[in-house]
Amino acid sequence: MTAAPSPRCDRITELTSDQLRARLAEALQVYVTAMGYPPSTAQQRAPMWSAHMLRAGWRCIGAFSDQDELIGIGYGYLGAPGQWWHEQVQRGLLRTVGNTGDWLDDYFELTELHVHPASQGGGLGEEILRRLLAGAPGAKVLLSTPEGPTRAWRLYRRVGFTDVLRNYRFAGDPRPFAVLGRPLPLDPPQPPSHRTH
Ligand SMILES: CC(C)(COP(=O)(O)OP(=O)(O)OC[C@H]1O[C@@H](n2cnc3c(N)ncnc32)[C@H](O)[C@@H]1OP(=O)(O)O)[C@@H](O)C(=O)NCCC(=O)NCCS
Repeated sequence: MTAAPSPRCDRITELTSDQLRARLAEALQVYVTAMGYPPSTAQQRAPMWSAHMLRAGWRCIGAFSDQDELIGIGYGYLGAPGQWWHEQVQRGLLRTVGNTGDWLDDYFELTELHVHPASQGGGLGEEILRRLLAGAPGAKVLLSTPEGPTRAWRLYRRVGFTDVLRNYRFAGDPRPFAVLGRPLPLDPPQPPSHRTH
């Protein structure tokens, strides 16, 4: 038996909140499949993704196959006091460093970035990330990702993210996370011959 061919990426485009709402179930399917979460997580996350769309600075990029299937998604918004993630990172910085520096001033929170497994490994995640951040508000970008040698880690390091917090435990999740950040805009992509891995 031969493996099914990977869906070819046909277009990468900014999505309005109405456009994402219309394809939310599909986007959440990409998310749970990419993260290896149980299917029920999609329904649980739907209200949160919908609430995020209303936040200041929200911006979303989708990647579509030539069959118009959603194969990748990335979004984020301006972080602000009162948001759960912002408060968690502030708590972590105060506990470990003693202050927040200027990390939590004027930043874009990269909230979600996922490529369907069948389309991973060819640069699509980086392309979505670059398109998302090219139009993002904020002087810097912050994100959290589970600790471990993952493709996400390689991507974030490749585009210049540095450590803000390591082995941090967000409330309600036993896994250790890293919080990573870097100034905006990103540097231009490195030619493949200059990559360190
Ligand atoms: C993290 C994620 C979004 C990255 O997307 P991706 O398309 O798989 O990854 P990239 O864009 O980084 O490209 C991956 C590989 O293609 C290579 N690549 C980059 N540009 C390329 C190009 N133009 N042509 C061919 N290959 C290319 C990269 O060097 C990279 O190699 P590596 O994996 O050996 O380091 C994706 O793997 C994913 O959804 N993972 C699961 C969910 C997840 O962890 N999300 C992040 C949560 S914080």
